[in-house]
Amino acid sequence: MVPLMCEQADCLVAALECKMRAGESVHMYDYLVKMALETIAVCSMGTHFDSFDSTEPHPFPVAFQAALDAMFALLNVPTQLWSCCVLSIWRVQKAVGVMNGLIDEIARKRVDKETSSSGKAPDLLDIMLAEGSKSSRENVRSQILTFLFAGHDSTAAAMSSPIVFLVANPRVEARLVAEI
Ligand code: HEM
Repeated sequence: MVPLMCEQADCLVAALECKMRAGESVHMYDYLVKMALETIAVCSMGTHFDSFDSTEPHPFPVAFQAALDAMFALLNVPTQLWSCCVLSIWRVQKAVGVMNGLIDEIARKRVDKETSSSGKAPDLLDIMLAEGSKSSRENVRSQILTFLFAGHDSTAAAMSSPIVFLVANPRVEARLVAEI
């Protein structure tokens, strides 16, 4: 899986270089989230969201962000009052519905052998589908969503912190650049 991960890192660097050449500034965290989601999707279920290339955003990251926004809105409200937050709850359910539908379609294509894992080895989706009845379709969806939710923010945050520290410490940044 390491070559697949390196490919996503290369896509991130290419996208940043493109922005740099155009003289545009970027919000690094957003770019790191794109890379994290892309890496997890490619490695776990052989799927590209085309986060860096496409002008039209893929519906999965759009629904993913909509679910996060609605969940964060709920966090501002005491849990006892959540049942009153009909709009936020509807937004979460709608976004989760979209993501479930997309994952089901990805799983169906894999079962029907229309797609395969991105690397030589079986990916998470292959392993779960091979377990057959032990892994229900709902369980497959939940595991993939857990991977995407648990993996994207942790990775993007962990990668953002060193960038902040390097920007604040130019001498260390210069040493690092010289080293690589
Ligand atoms: C630098 C990156 C990461 C950090 C710092 C990090 C940190 C953590 C921490 C602290 C936990 C909670 C452990 C516990 O309470 O027992 C956790 C759980 C988890 N992480 Fe990560 N993680 C990272 C990347 C990832 C990635 C890339 C994935 C998957 C692609 C992932 C998947 C998970 C899963 C599935 C759980 C368990 C969630 C649950 O069911 O509660 N993590 N991680």
